[in-house]
Amino acid sequence: MASVISGKEVSAKVRAEVREECERLKEKGVTPGLAVIIVGDDPASRVYVNNKKKACAEVGFASEEYALPAETTQQELLALIDTLNKKPEINGILCQLPLPKHLDETAVIHAISPEKDVDAFHPSNVGKIMIGDYDFLPCTPAGVMELIHFAGIEVSGKNCVVIGRSNIVGKPMAMLLLHENGTVTICHSKTKDLKEICAGADILVAAVGRPKFVKADMVKEGAVVLDVGINRDENGKLCGDVDYEQVEPKASFITPVPGGVGPMTIAMLMKNTLKAAKLQNHIESV
Ligand code: GUN
Repeated sequence: MASVISGKEVSAKVRAEVREECERLKEKGVTPGLAVIIVGDDPASRVYVNNKKKACAEVGFASEEYALPAETTQQELLALIDTLNKKPEINGILCQLPLPKHLDETAVIHAISPEKDVDAFHPSNVGKIMIGDYDFLPCTPAGVMELIHFAGIEVSGKNCVVIGRSNIVGKPMAMLLLHENGTVTICHSKTKDLKEICAGADILVAAVGRPKFVKADMVKEGAVVLDVGINRDENGKLCGDVDYEQVEPKASFITPVPGGVGPMTIAMLMKNTLKAAKLQNHIESV
């Protein structure tokens, strides 16, 4: 039987810490501000954006939503980002992905000022993460690390396997585990012997985006299993990338879906926005 690591509990703790720091920052005349851009009407993106705005209100930040129609042009979107880059009361800018197909995501990521890039997607921030000298960490991998730390799991010397190589999760996740001296393997769609590699993991992070992809025979007895997936199963019920029913009895620690990594992503976004506000106002500690 695995210990369940509750993202609900850990994210509440992180948000409470951010709220406290925000109060002290406000006493110095600074209110952290986050701008959230959403283009089109993707229902999942709408839910994420609503949750991000709600979290801002809860921790005491100001938030501005820019909901643009699906037919917004690249030029219009870049013009908005330029305005927000120059707006002093906005400390963080987040453009919810994915964007409609006609828009160039890479160009949009590049346009956000690195100082306001609270997603840590800009190449300058990605490079800093690679070196291990960074201001912001990408929210989902940082949230996974926070769960690992909360559970008291030691990464150093462990075999860590990350399934998925996206720029948003897989690649930075591998880097953060490496920074803590894990021996890291990244698996992807072309990986041979995926099952065997996963079964050798002490720490297994699933970020594939396929419902219940990780089965019991891919998991070592006593492994720590972190599930980044948010999918719908055949009955339309929320599920992760891990087949929880099968895997939970073998794992030592496991994160549930929902209530695992998901809430951590937003908590870490709040942490990044607070840090952006402090850096932009030259406040080291509050
Ligand atoms: N879409 C899915 N996850 C994310 C995220 O962490 N940030 C942004 N901007 N878009 C996303």
